[in-house]
Amino acid sequence: MSHFYNKQMNIRQTTFKIDEKENIVQTILTHVDDKYLARLLLGDKIIGRCSIVNMPGNCGMVVSTELSIDEPFRRKGLTQIFRNQMYDIVKNDMHIRYIIATVLEDNVAEIGSSGKSGFNIIDNFVNNKTKHKIVIIGKKL
Ligand SMILES: CC(C)(COP(=O)(O)OP(=O)(O)OC[C@H]1O[C@@H](n2cnc3c(N)ncnc32)[C@H](O)[C@@H]1OP(=O)(O)O)[C@@H](O)C(=O)NCCC(=O)NCCS
Repeated sequence: MSHFYNKQMNIRQTTFKIDEKENIVQTILTHVDDKYLARLLLGDKIIGRCSIVNMPGNCGMVVSTELSIDEPFRRKGLTQIFRNQMYDIVKNDMHIRYIIATVLEDNVAEIGSSGKSGFNIIDNFVNNKTKHKIVIIGKKL
């Protein structure tokens, strides 16, 4: 993980109780080329990932993509901590006011999770190349 700590980064941390044990949970966002990579650490283990990309043509807005939490850590409150910490960095350190993302219509976990975190559904469409039903979601920070 040492290369990780050498890059420009932003960090938020808190504590979280699992099985009566207090754990340090932190979100670390590193800036690599045009992409921001967010990592959620439980202790020293990376358990979550997300990429943030600048929106072409609008410097007040980003695209969130590739959010994932390792399976054993889902639906425990950790995803919401990750989102809160990541969006706090995006808003207060990066000075971004709007996040947009897309999700497959049948991805109940991401539809539920993003809704809990305050995302609104903006629109939907069928991607003619893949035939996937896509939902466009957005959150004002
Ligand atoms: C999407 C993902 C990050 C959500 O993680 P999570 O820890 O379940 O998220 P949250 O705890 O914030 O929200 C979960 C909510 O979504 C809904 N949900 C999650 N899994 C569900 C399921 N299997 N069936 C029905 N609803 C579900 C529920 O409303 C749930 O709330 P609850 O636990 O209070 O009932 C995780 O499922 C994941 O990594 N999935 C694989 C990658 C992916 O699809 N990423 C998103 C697209 S880029």
